[in-house]
Amino acid sequence: MTETLASELRRRLVLALDFDDSVLAMRWALRLRATFGVAKVGLELWSAAGPGAVTELVGGGFEVFVDLKLADIPNTTYRAARVLGALGARYLTVHASAGAASLRAGVEGFAEGAAGANLPAPAVLGVTVLTSESEAPPELVAERARLAAEAGCGGFVCAAKDLVAARSAAPSLLAVVPGIRLAGRSTDDQARPATPGAAVRAGADLLVIGRAVTGAESPEAAADEIVGEVLAALGGAVGSEQAEETTTPPRTR
Ligand code: C5P
Repeated sequence: MTETLASELRRRLVLALDFDDSVLAMRWALRLRATFGVAKVGLELWSAAGPGAVTELVGGGFEVFVDLKLADIPNTTYRAARVLGALGARYLTVHASAGAASLRAGVEGFAEGAAGANLPAPAVLGVTVLTSESEAPPELVAERARLAAEAGCGGFVCAAKDLVAARSAAPSLLAVVPGIRLAGRSTDDQARPATPGAAVRAGADLLVIGRAVTGAESPEAAADEIVGEVLAALGGAVGSEQAEETTTPPRTR
């Protein structure tokens, strides 16, 4: 694989660092850094380590995805997002169900925080319907993706199965897909999982991957399997130069 292709894949692959300890989280991020260029700080790691987890990962060269799924009143969302933007986070999730005003406040605060710290413009991701929910009516997914687009979000988060509905409502946004599982493995609490290949073929730009790798007997082998599937889905083959020509960058970069 060429360096360009490897770095393109790293920008699409998000490692969910769902740990209660920032030392452990950093160890995992470094262990899998050849594959995952984006590190996700979710509620567990944030609860354990707070902003320090974000700044350490930023300092370690990762793009940091803060997955706090904000859903508060607009003023509170704005102020929290501004802090997170100034910390150097690249992505931040806000629940689209919180409504247009909260989404807009998140977008504004996140951008202002980053700009105030002389950092490039970051992206708020509107969460449509959780992948742990077994039902996601297409109209609801579409409505929330549309809200995210109208509020100025850079992307939306949805299950692979909801991509058609979300994409039709917000065609220019980055499509971020969690609930990724390798075929034949446990789906845990994810009600609407998809394989990495299926998610990319359905139009995912970024894949959020946690237990499929961190819970695998061999995390490196699982990461290689994921890369192989993603490359195949993008139209190339592992080790092939052809894949580079068929790989398009994530939408909002
Ligand atoms: O371990 P697993 O791959 O299931 O982890 C998925 C990660 O993505 C978790 O950190 C979870 O909080 C997050 N997530 C999700 N569904 C969403 C949004 C985020 O599973 N709709």
